[in-house]
Amino acid sequence: MRVQLKRSSLLELPLQPIELVEALKMSSGGNWSRAFGHWPVLGTEAVLALAVKPGGAYVDATLGGGGHSRLILKALNSEGRLIALDQDPEPVRWAREGWGQGEKRLIAVLSNFEKLGEILAEQGLGGVDGILLDLGFNSRQLAISGRGFSWSGDEPLDMRFDPKGGLTAAQVINHYQEKDLANLIWHYGEEKASRRVARAIVRARRIKALETTGELAGLLAKTLYRPGPPGRINPATRTFMALRIETNRELIVLDTLLKAAPTLLKPGGRLVVISFHSLEDRLVKEALRFKDEQGYSPWRVVYKKPQTAGADEIRRNPRARSAKLRAAEKIALK
Ligand SMILES: C[S@@+](CC[C@H](N)C(=O)[O-])C[C@H]1O[C@@H](n2cnc3c(N)ncnc32)[C@H](O)[C@@H]1O
Repeated sequence: MRVQLKRSSLLELPLQPIELVEALKMSSGGNWSRAFGHWPVLGTEAVLALAVKPGGAYVDATLGGGGHSRLILKALNSEGRLIALDQDPEPVRWAREGWGQGEKRLIAVLSNFEKLGEILAEQGLGGVDGILLDLGFNSRQLAISGRGFSWSGDEPLDMRFDPKGGLTAAQVINHYQEKDLANLIWHYGEEKASRRVARAIVRARRIKALETTGELAGLLAKTLYRPGPPGRINPATRTFMALRIETNRELIVLDTLLKAAPTLLKPGGRLVVISFHSLEDRLVKEALRFKDEQGYSPWRVVYKKPQTAGADEIRRNPRARSAKLRAAEKIALK
């Protein structure tokens, strides 16, 4: 299946060899990741927005199933390097021992991208030519990780991308004060009934701690029940999303990386971010518009409006519906 490129994206980007554009269009359509069961969202658009230099050094800060990484590798020659990070050991193992085995240009690293500066220093890289972020979870984490990302099964309430790091969702839900729970469900989940949800959680946990996704989803279904047409989003969706964001400090680590990015890129290097949540997109938009007190910005924004998926891609991959891609180039000092 072909990915439709928006005219504007082609006009604003430096000229790419036409063979590369064609190859990317074909492979992001056919680049189904077997182990992770998904297509890279806005795959062609992301690699074009990075304006990959064939011999350059690039970072895929959210490796996942390696869909975007493989597209970047396609655009690199034998001198090129790709540092690919994930805080979940499984994508890293899959890159090292599965799809990326024997790929000398790829360095797969187990790390949170908030530590990207340290990782690049360890690799002896003073700066890179591009950084890509494709935020959120991978399909395998949702479907079979057993870590409670989905409300549809009955798994421990964990929700950590890094199975060894930080608080679990169960710790958040059973120990946060009611007002803090209400705030995070309101802000991160955009749940209008956040206070009602927080009150119900606190009442339930007085009797017994909430330990599984099934227990929480059941409580949310009772608390938020509203008769209505079928097909509305499940009432648990917003609270689950809020817990995932809190558990993984998603907005905090994103903010850290966005602030560090100008120091991690070479002049002319590109930052490309694909986000799925309005709060993430707002952080990205604001970071790329940042100006210091002298009115100086380290960025030249590549697209005025975020790039979004076309109808073809959304049909093939419904998760692409809410994706927004923003890109900026680090300004080269004269
Ligand atoms: C949407 S998936 C990436 C999919 C990938 N681009 C592809 O096409 O296969 C996001 C991945 O980023 C990882 N991730 C999320 N936040 C991270 C962070 N702060 N640091 C490192 N990895 C992170 C998740 O574990 C997940 O595997």
